[in-house]
Amino acid sequence: MKPIEKLLLENKAWAHELEAEDPGYFKRLAKLQTPEFLWIGCSDSRVPADRITGTMPGEIFVHRNIANLVIHTDVNLLSVLDFAVNHLKVNHVIVCGHYGCGGVKAAMTNHDYKYVLNMWLRNIKDVYRLYSQELDAIDDEEKRADRLTELNVKEQVMHLAKTSIIQRAWKQERRPQLHGWVYGLKDGLIKPVFDMEANQSGIDPIYQYDDL
Ligand code: CO
Repeated sequence: MKPIEKLLLENKAWAHELEAEDPGYFKRLAKLQTPEFLWIGCSDSRVPADRITGTMPGEIFVHRNIANLVIHTDVNLLSVLDFAVNHLKVNHVIVCGHYGCGGVKAAMTNHDYKYVLNMWLRNIKDVYRLYSQELDAIDDEEKRADRLTELNVKEQVMHLAKTSIIQRAWKQERRPQLHGWVYGLKDGLIKPVFDMEANQSGIDPIYQYDDL
């Protein structure tokens, strides 16, 4: 059997098993989507949002890209954020990076990855520059990459807080809470590294909208 055919076969087995365990499961789920969480994670195949958090379909709304970046001109990400915050009314937005992230490691090199990848990785290089004093002081390359991964998650959470989508929801409904997490490929554990409550004061004044 070809690997692609195995996927479809496995899917059938999974659906039958779930339906047998809980009759009517899919019919009920098809009618309603009320996730409590928006997950912004890395595209890395080793970091599946639902598996590592023990959640089921319907519980997490997911957006993934290389190195879990929140870029204020990314229409894809902003659409997901807008829909999750204003229509699904999620109470938590989680940015989850992971140690050993290829995107973070690539951004730390001076290698030309050509065109679009250079453009994408630039955003991580900007985070490095912001914290270069702290990062340059770390001799061990892996530890430096780990720290950049944590700082990158923190910066992406701050980027969320700079959007009018988040600031308006904070002002009107005191939600969502923002969370920065880092997942460990080596132990399967998530480390919380940064949190933001519904409060504009955590971001630089120039980003604070005062007429929402
Ligand atoms: Co990654």
